Amino acid sequence: MKSTQMNGSYPNESEAGQTVVIGSSGFIGRFITEACLDSGRPTYILVRSSSNSPSKASTIKFLQDKGAIVIYGSITDQEFMEKVLREYKIEVVISAVGGESILDQLSLIEAIKNVNTVKRFVPSEFGHDIDRAEPVEPGLTMYEQKRKIRRQIEECGIPYSYICCNSIAAWPYHDNTHPTDVLPPLDRFQIYGDGTVKAYFVAGSDIGKFTVMSIDDDRTLNKTVHFQPPSNLLNMNEMASLWETKIGRVLPRVTITEQDLLQRAQEMRIPQSVVAAITHDIFINGCQINFSLDKTTDVEICSLYPNTSFRTIAECFDDSAKKISDNEKAVSKPVTASNTDIFVPTAKPEALAITAICT
Ligand SMILES: NC(=O)c1ccc[n+]([C@@H]2O[C@H](COP(=O)([O-])OP(=O)(O)OC[C@H]3O[C@@H](n4cnc5c(N)ncnc54)[C@H](OP(=O)(O)O)[C@@H]3O)[C@@H](O)[C@H]2O)c1
Repeated sequence: MKSTQMNGSYPNESEAGQTVVIGSSGFIGRFITEACLDSGRPTYILVRSSSNSPSKASTIKFLQDKGAIVIYGSITDQEFMEKVLREYKIEVVISAVGGESILDQLSLIEAIKNVNTVKRFVPSEFGHDIDRAEPVEPGLTMYEQKRKIRRQIEECGIPYSYICCNSIAAWPYHDNTHPTDVLPPLDRFQIYGDGTVKAYFVAGSDIGKFTVMSIDDDRTLNKTVHFQPPSNLLNMNEMASLWETKIGRVLPRVTITEQDLLQRAQEMRIPQSVVAAITHDIFINGCQINFSLDKTTDVEICSLYPNTSFRTIAECFDDSAKKISDNEKAVSKPVTASNTDIFVPTAKPEALAITAICT
């Protein structure tokens, strides 16, 4: 496998290894798959035949149209996965299975071990360094499962990269697993604690792009890859002020205390309580910033690719503000024969904007 260039370019199409992405129809998996396809790598996507929701089907169709090759099956079928890895000569496996399926990866690891031709495995992490962070329950249970996957990979001697991309660039709602699916607030901000604890907010497209760059890079082999772009390190007060500049008005702030977050975690509503536990770890404990990269296995993405920039939060918020303005235009447009397919809401434009789905 060739190294990704220092300037952040991808290897030639002919040099890139055959890659399979698991979980492409999911929130993080879609970003990863798009980046794989944009890089020109031969990209297979494993799709469960039971996966039949209309929005997932349209994501799969979109990825197919971009060049992804669909394979139907589940990673829990070890024999089938061995066949896939052999027949398609897969060199890179990227898993983005959701929080409820983390242990499904145990049979995938067995398949990768038995076939013994995979040059890089990226397990489903895409968050914090789970060997360092210690959220309260039920976040801890998910971290323990992710740790189990790490230990199994290491015990089997499978070449890996662990992607610790921190938070996705969006307003960090404490009860939403997919924060970019909801636009930032238009009525009031809920600020965790005093709002001064910083976190790294990384655009979904950059999570995909830098993950894909790192899988071809010898410097990330058997390493934990931390995403810590200095330009994307903000606290909640700064996020709120930045969003206010985009919408041109000031919103009230409501404090969500540490106790509030702990109580929501204790309610054990899955997945919302998992998000509350992790939100507590980020914005109260400072789990993204309270450690140094002092292990030999740590690498930081900006020092690997100093010439490739990250999208800023300001740019991501510009996109959100544009969606709101587009929604408002659609709402105010009179219904004519040519636009009868536009949804005309009975709710206020503001309410529509809050729940509008981002793509
Ligand atoms: N940093 C962040 O801000 C952030 C945010 C969210 C998630 N994450 C992390 O990112 C990872 C992915 O989470 P997500 O929320 O993106 O997941 P998701 O939206 O729930 O999607 C999960 C995907 O995995 C597929 N899948 C599950 N089990 C499978 C199996 N046995 N075989 C094949 N495919 C299977 C699902 O397919 P079906 O369509 O068949 O269900 C779906 O496509 C997790 O580790 C999560 O903790 C990070």
